[in-house]
Amino acid sequence: MILLKRHRIIRSSPAIRSLVAETRLTPDDMMAPLFIVEGEGAVEEVSSMPGYFRRSLDETIKEVKELWSMQIKAVLLFIKCKDELKDNKGTEALNPDGLMQRSIRAIKDACPDMLVMTDVALDPFSSYGHDGIVEGNEILNDATVEVLAEMSVSHARAGADFVAPSDMMDGRIGAIRLALEQNGFTRTGILSYSAKYASCFYGPFRDALDSAPGFGDKKTYQMDYQNRREAIKETLLDIEEGADMVMVKPALSYLDIIREVKDAVHVPVSAYNISGEYAMIKAAARMGWLNEEKAIIETLTSIKRAGADLIATYFARDAVRILG
Ligand code: PBG
Repeated sequence: MILLKRHRIIRSSPAIRSLVAETRLTPDDMMAPLFIVEGEGAVEEVSSMPGYFRRSLDETIKEVKELWSMQIKAVLLFIKCKDELKDNKGTEALNPDGLMQRSIRAIKDACPDMLVMTDVALDPFSSYGHDGIVEGNEILNDATVEVLAEMSVSHARAGADFVAPSDMMDGRIGAIRLALEQNGFTRTGILSYSAKYASCFYGPFRDALDSAPGFGDKKTYQMDYQNRREAIKETLLDIEEGADMVMVKPALSYLDIIREVKDAVHVPVSAYNISGEYAMIKAAARMGWLNEEKAIIETLTSIKRAGADLIATYFARDAVRILG
């Protein structure tokens, strides 16, 4: 055969493949989510997330120091609120000595260069497990936004580098930016969960924090996965309102959205490789059906290739170890 195009030439050896590789995963691409619980010396495995743990603050600090030594530069904090502290308005979320606020201070104290990003949403604090204040069957928008803005200021005051609103209420980014400005927090960033879809893949996370909605679902605020353009609209608006970085969530069933958002904006784009995506790989690997290490690296590389500048992932520690 005479072929003028021999495509296999640039795939023919590890050396040439590494020279022409377009996407290379590094520790700089990853943020590690952390689940924090009250107590001491507690390290509890999340049953639907094998190999992932809820930790008390003392244990979390050890983990953060280790992550930093592995070159991971950002953690995303989630706390598990005690049942007796939950109410409809998420009052505990504003407690200056609440678990979130104490965690931010302690982590920044122990590891000052680690970027601390905090989840801003009501669901872990809500007696209804919703991301907003409930009235009848409604999730109230404007009243919720007020709490989210206060919550953001409270996280900034405790020392958070970025607040990360994950709720999908209208107008919250603008309200949060304004509140940060009014309170003198001009160096606190906003990582907005801009295109967050109502997804069945959040299941294991809701187990981890005991935050499943008590009634109904989250479809009146999180996006419908049948839609694409809406993701761009939401994202552009968040940037206009003052978001420093945006996020697409989940990641794997939404790689097309990551790419479209990336092409539409000029701010860093992140993606959240969520709990259900973690659980699927872990479960298949445990059954002996997948090579776990290869699945982790291929998955994270695909999210980066789709356009994510940074990836929140429960695999952060594994991936850094595998990458060596
Ligand atoms: C809620 C929140 C969720 C996640 C992050 N923040 C779940 C939800 O919206 O119900 C999910 C993360 C994951 O599944 O890993 N504010």
